[in-house]
Amino acid sequence: MIERPTWATVDTAAIRGNIQRIAARLSPGVRICAVVKADGYGHGAVAVSRVALEAGASMLAVAIVNEAVELRVAGFTCPILVMGPAEACDAARIVDYGLDATVYDLAAAQALSDAAVYAQGKAAIHLKIDTGMRRVGCEPSDAAGLATAIAALPGARLAGVFSHFATADAEDLGFARVQLARYRAALDAISAAGIDPGIRHLANSAAAIRLPEAGFDMVRLGIAMYGLKPSADREWEVELKPALSLRTRVSMVKDIAAGESVGYGRRFTAARKSRIATLPLGYADGWPRALSGRVSLLVRGKRAPLVGSVCMDQCMLDVTDVPGVLAGDEVLLYGTAELPADEIAAALGTINYEVACLVGRRVPRVYV
Ligand SMILES: Cc1ncc(COP(=O)(O)O)c(C=O)c1O
Repeated sequence: MIERPTWATVDTAAIRGNIQRIAARLSPGVRICAVVKADGYGHGAVAVSRVALEAGASMLAVAIVNEAVELRVAGFTCPILVMGPAEACDAARIVDYGLDATVYDLAAAQALSDAAVYAQGKAAIHLKIDTGMRRVGCEPSDAAGLATAIAALPGARLAGVFSHFATADAEDLGFARVQLARYRAALDAISAAGIDPGIRHLANSAAAIRLPEAGFDMVRLGIAMYGLKPSADREWEVELKPALSLRTRVSMVKDIAAGESVGYGRRFTAARKSRIATLPLGYADGWPRALSGRVSLLVRGKRAPLVGSVCMDQCMLDVTDVPGVLAGDEVLLYGTAELPADEIAAALGTINYEVACLVGRRVPRVYV
């Protein structure tokens, strides 16, 4: 991408290190699936996939078919799981691109099987069980019947059985253990029916770190691979190094008099003679307008408050108390231990996952 003075640095060694430290905690033989949906949580799916596979992941997971196709087109030949529901209209593409599909009813499995029979192949199907998330998935009591029916389809292969935790990141693991027990019971019923479940996978990042008994055959690593904490309100048992930092360069510095206002709507008025630094990024870059007046950023080693409304392409920083700021100075928006994404998330009333996903397409990713 063409360079610009606003960019996201992605530290690939950090991603590799995060994966390796988490892998070291897993039971022997537990595989890693790298979750690279939403353009690798904003980090760039192609680059992250490459690093994750080098670091030992054996599978990739995305949310929607288009994301998986992008990876196939980029040359990835490993299994790619589409974790979102396989729609009947996507069946042919799933088969053509050799994707692993998520299914929780027989109609979807039948559509995939039909497409695969037409293509003279077999569709790889992962049965999703809803063990408590109440989002998608079959009831645990239906899992054995569905697994049996899927395995009997002429164009389908039961490649896996999985579920997803709702609270593995919470201090209290009580409900996660309830989900784990429901998942185990469903697996037992599938085995009792004489069906091979394929790859058994349940754990997200939080569970991969904290619930070794939930490892089964594979864990699905998302947020922790990127070095972000699965939840901000607890200490994590493994060192997580943030991979993405968002940075920009001051485009202009100007002095304003006490009583002058800054930006659209005049939402900030200087109480004293002030120095304002303009930054060339705005809400169209994934730097939300809701941050106006709510965060301070790092420039020349000091914090400076964001003042006035964030515009579509620019925003303003009050650098009155940071001596010597000049046009061209680098400003850290977030992504290091001194200014973590969690701080931006807290200011927005959201979680670090959303902050990372916000980084806009027009922000170049610089891989180091
Ligand atoms: C089904 C599923 N598995 C795994 C993950 C990865 O979760 P995390 O980013 O918390 O590791 C997600 C992410 O939301 C998901 O939806």
